[in-house]
Amino acid sequence: MSTEKDALAGHPPIDWSKWEPAGEGDLRSPCPMINALANHHILPHSGKGITKAMAVEALTKSINLDSGIANMFASVAVTANPDHSSHAFDLDQVDKHGLIEHDVSLSRNDIAFGDNHSFNKEIWEDVLKSYGEDTETSFETVSRARYERVAACKKAHADAKKEFEYGIKEFILSYGESALFLGILGSPQEGKIPLEYLKVLFQEERVPYKEGWRPIEKPLTQMNMNHLIFSLIKANEHKAAEAQDVGLGTVHAVQAAVTSIMPSYCTIM
Ligand code: HEM
Repeated sequence: MSTEKDALAGHPPIDWSKWEPAGEGDLRSPCPMINALANHHILPHSGKGITKAMAVEALTKSINLDSGIANMFASVAVTANPDHSSHAFDLDQVDKHGLIEHDVSLSRNDIAFGDNHSFNKEIWEDVLKSYGEDTETSFETVSRARYERVAACKKAHADAKKEFEYGIKEFILSYGESALFLGILGSPQEGKIPLEYLKVLFQEERVPYKEGWRPIEKPLTQMNMNHLIFSLIKANEHKAAEAQDVGLGTVHAVQAAVTSIMPSYCTIM
């Protein structure tokens, strides 16, 4: 774990105490992290007119995401703007289903049931139950919480006779998002972060600076992400069933797909 000085060398220090939730007219997304960065005024607080350069700058300089990953997310986000001549996006536009937004979110409902955008307290509290009394995450608990949400969504769709969209793309995005919070909130190797950090990020859309979080020392790279995703897959006791569900048959095939898809992630979005 580092000081901000390391992560933000050459850039003015960030005042993480500056935080305000969205006010009237401000736009937000289904992503707890980009919402948090807007709440901290690192992205425009209005949530409007975010260029690729602004997003990359925010993600690399404030939370030390590798510039390649930041570029990939930002490039895809800009395409969410229905005005294709624009080089910017508004935060609410990235809820476009099938682009980055997908079923099985940890804190949002699936599109078949209406609101795929707003924080859903009931869903999030169900996800938190998977952590039991734990105060720290582990690959096992993060993986279990994620898979239990997948199973709950699958059942809800079956009961309502709705089509459930969970293939390799959704699988990678969903594992990728759990990997992102573990990596960015401080544990690219071990998967251990205080559960409180997760609650602050999801429930308040705030970066848990005052709870003790500091930016990771080195940028979170694709290699780190692969390690985190594989560790989460490995920890899933239902990985074989999940491999079948996403249409790849075996865990080995899933791992090969993750390795080959991850570097060209944006081409499947
Ligand atoms: C420009 C950059 C980014 C964009 C455009 C973006 C966009 C999105 C979108 C559209 C979703 C919704 C996916 C779903 O349906 O569940 C999402 C979810 C998520 N994002 Fe981001 N994101 C970005 C960067 C990040 C970063 C750097 C983190 C690091 C912690 C992050 C963490 C998450 C998490 C944890 C979720 C899952 C939320 C849930 O399951 O309820 N995102 N993001």
